[in-house]
Amino acid sequence: MSTPRYDVITIFPEYLSPLSLSLIGKAEERGLLATKVSDLRAFTSGVHKSVDDTPYGGGAGMVMSPVPWGEAIDVIAEEAEGEGLSTHTLIILTPAGRRLDQAFAYELAQKEHLIFACGRYEGIDYRVTDHYSTRDHFEVIEVSIGDYVLGGGEVATLVILEAVIRLIPGVLGNAESLKEESHTLRDESTEPLVEYPNFTKPPEWRGLEVPPELLSGNHGLIAKWRVAAAKERTEKLKDQTRE
Ligand code: ADE
Repeated sequence: MSTPRYDVITIFPEYLSPLSLSLIGKAEERGLLATKVSDLRAFTSGVHKSVDDTPYGGGAGMVMSPVPWGEAIDVIAEEAEGEGLSTHTLIILTPAGRRLDQAFAYELAQKEHLIFACGRYEGIDYRVTDHYSTRDHFEVIEVSIGDYVLGGGEVATLVILEAVIRLIPGVLGNAESLKEESHTLRDESTEPLVEYPNFTKPPEWRGLEVPPELLSGNHGLIAKWRVAAAKERTEKLKDQTRE
């Protein structure tokens, strides 16, 4: 796969400044991926640079106009095609979308070009979804990061990018750490487990000792303890969320 590209379209470009920090920023410096944040207002016409309007049919709030969105997405797709990318995955952030989980993050990590459309207010005119769903070289996925309503898609985009980018080959120093983490570890059934608890030095802290299995040096015993501890933690979590 060619170097993946991640575009973000927003009316608050500064909101995405964490993209230049930490793991994502370092991965970009190393040429493993490219990110670009575009200001939706740069694709408006008129002095007011307006991006929203009242909803047809009435109701509270404002809806984002499809006009600047179409301009922005077309320009970005063309730019990416100039760089040799041929398929675009348009991600529309909305609490009404497909819920992000680890399997979905793996799927997104296979895509060569993600374009994140960060809606605000009551969302983006639905014709943007309809239009790009039928355009050649595009697919559209509406994505939610959880069952709660945020003020806009910016934070959701950061969450998704952080989950996706660390799965790109070469981004994590230690590929082993991907194998055993939460939601990737499984027991003999196919149920995903959360990660087992971890411990480091000192061996005793405030009267609490590290489980002796982990100090045993016996790899079989350690592996068995970890699966059992992950199962116990998964069950505890299920109890907390059970209605
Ligand atoms: N926009 C508003 N709420 C959201 C959510 N939960 N996930 C993704 N985008 C959103």
